[in-house]
Amino acid sequence: MNLADLNKIARAMVAPGKGILAADESSGTIKKRFDVIGVESTENNRRDYREMMFRSQEAMSQYISGVILYDETIWQNAADGTPLVKLIEQAGSIPGIKVDEGTQKLPGCPGETITVGLDKLAERLDKYYKQGARFAKWRAVIDIDSANGVPTHTAIMTNAHALARYAALCQQAQIVPIVEPEVLMDGSHDIDTCYQVTEWVLKETFQQLYFQRVALEGMILKPNMAVAGKKSAKKADVQEVAEKTVKLLKSCVPSAVPGIAFLSGGQSDEEATAHLDAMNKIGGLPWGLTFSYGRALQAAPQKAWSGKVDNVAAGQAAFTHRAKMNSLASKGEWSASLESKKAA
Ligand code: 13P
Repeated sequence: MNLADLNKIARAMVAPGKGILAADESSGTIKKRFDVIGVESTENNRRDYREMMFRSQEAMSQYISGVILYDETIWQNAADGTPLVKLIEQAGSIPGIKVDEGTQKLPGCPGETITVGLDKLAERLDKYYKQGARFAKWRAVIDIDSANGVPTHTAIMTNAHALARYAALCQQAQIVPIVEPEVLMDGSHDIDTCYQVTEWVLKETFQQLYFQRVALEGMILKPNMAVAGKKSAKKADVQEVAEKTVKLLKSCVPSAVPGIAFLSGGQSDEEATAHLDAMNKIGGLPWGLTFSYGRALQAAPQKAWSGKVDNVAAGQAAFTHRAKMNSLASKGEWSASLESKKAA
């Protein structure tokens, strides 16, 4: 492992004004997104949609440091035969790959899951590196259902252990691991419950990373923010989310970690941007703090495109706008008034 090179990639992923496009929806998830816009989920449609984003020159060269791809996409060519990976590289962005293989039920823990995919991961990472991937992603999922004793320590510890095993294998393959322990915002819990569970998850995760000898300088953390559950009666405002999330991360994430790139997790596009911006306005943070959004970057372009060739320019404009807004937020320079000044 060459840690200096891993650190260089990790720092580029969270360079000021830049963040990550999570375009790694599995075939099942992208079908759900396409169903909403009335587009059939064929291999070519998935390719056309992603090619549209990767050819958004302004967004890809100025605001998007890296793209997380799904296995199908990393091997796909654009309509003119250019590998999609090359399009990303030509724009000055870094290709990455989701390497987990989804979740399975965790025995003995009703309602909880373990993320799988460690078997043969070393071989898969070597193939992805040859194909151009310089970072990877693995997502662990932790639910909150306090009435039923969820999450359990078993689920948190087992998922943290898998994340750390994955991260160690990535670094051995000269690939920067994005470590993503996602605490879901699906429940009716308040923001303080989310805070406490996320704190527990992050403490356990960093302990396991230490046990597996992962070099913190060569990784990126992808956490959820401290937010109230979607069904909570008590919604937290932007400032409260920002202050609590910054306090939480400062108490759990060592400053050796080059950067933190949030998931959006079901927040609205503008909420995800406003929260990131408010945190960066607080400032004085030991790590880069940016976005690694899936839905909050793609909902708008998906709608604008809706599977029609004639809408490619509109889709690219919508994508560029959201990427630019989040780029500003990563520097604490966003304001709600900029939302109406959409790119042409
Ligand atoms: P969302 O921003 O839609 O949560 O997706 C990010 C991601 O990569 C989840 O694994």
